[in-house]
Amino acid sequence: MTDEPRLTAAMTEIADRLEETLVALLPRGCGPEARVFQAMAYATLDGGKRLRPFLTVETARLFGVPDSRSLRAGAAIEFVHCYSLVHDDLPAMDDDDLRRGRPSNHVEFDEATAILAGDALQTLAFEVLADPATHPDGAVRAGLVAALADAAGARGMVGGQMFDIAAETAGGGLTLEQIVRLQRMKTGRLFDVSCQSGALLGGASESDRAALAAYTQALGLAFQIADDILDETGDAVEVGKQVGKDARAGKATFISILGLEAARERANILALQAVTALECFGERAGLLRDAAQFAVGRRT
Ligand code: IPE
Ligand code: IPE
Ligand code: MG
Ligand code: MG
Ligand code: MG
Repeated sequence: MTDEPRLTAAMTEIADRLEETLVALLPRGCGPEARVFQAMAYATLDGGKRLRPFLTVETARLFGVPDSRSLRAGAAIEFVHCYSLVHDDLPAMDDDDLRRGRPSNHVEFDEATAILAGDALQTLAFEVLADPATHPDGAVRAGLVAALADAAGARGMVGGQMFDIAAETAGGGLTLEQIVRLQRMKTGRLFDVSCQSGALLGGASESDRAALAAYTQALGLAFQIADDILDETGDAVEVGKQVGKDARAGKATFISILGLEAARERANILALQAVTALECFGERAGLLRDAAQFAVGRRT
């Protein structure tokens, strides 16, 4: 059973502490470069569900890791996620003018600044992971850096974004297997590294890491299907970003292939799969299980 108030309270608690962590890590100062600092803060503060850092912190708690460490790893992943959103909204990509209920970064600033803010958020993420405050053991830090680089790079999120654009240019026509691969890369890999970072910080066993990988594989897909459903059926004010854009752009999504009802059904099955994957952790993983239900039931 999902305990919604318990999940909401836990997500709010972690989101508040993440916000403080982000503020402390973002660059500050004056001079001509200060404009990019402002665009980085605009891209990252006061918004978003913070689901990826939630997964990092909650997973790390399974292994007794202090929140002070997992919040830094979660902040690094959130920096990469926010950079991906800034670039995703650019005119050369999805050309979206609304993000998290506000003008997109390139609308609030300008295209060049938005590109640079995204670039700098990405490098800041790795700077944070490489800092001994994230973990005293250099081998653990190197593991975190390698995992995030792989998840965010050309074999992960960036590769998925390329696939997404290539499919749009080709006018859709993907098979179900291809769309699963696209969404795993574009969205799933950052969810994957969110949990794996918590596990790396806690020196988790191979079998625990495999259970978490099964959880995030299902969760990531379910989450992206829910995103596609919100684009099709959601309200721009509530969702905080423009809706109806996937169909207009001819994007390949689960909905374009399966239709709305079958996509919904698939998201629910995937959420159940995610829940089941965590059985070995017992009640300690209750909030992670609730997060899987949240991923498909959400309205924003
Ligand atoms: C949006 O992610 C981009 C996708 C991968 C679907 P989120 O829905 O997590 O965006 P925020 O962080 O809550 O704004
Ligand atoms: C983008 O997916 C996921 C990223 C890697 C940024 P979408 O293009 O569907 O994300 P939204 O709907 O603009 O948030
Ligand atoms: Mg996109
Ligand atoms: Mg987009
Ligand atoms: Mg979308």
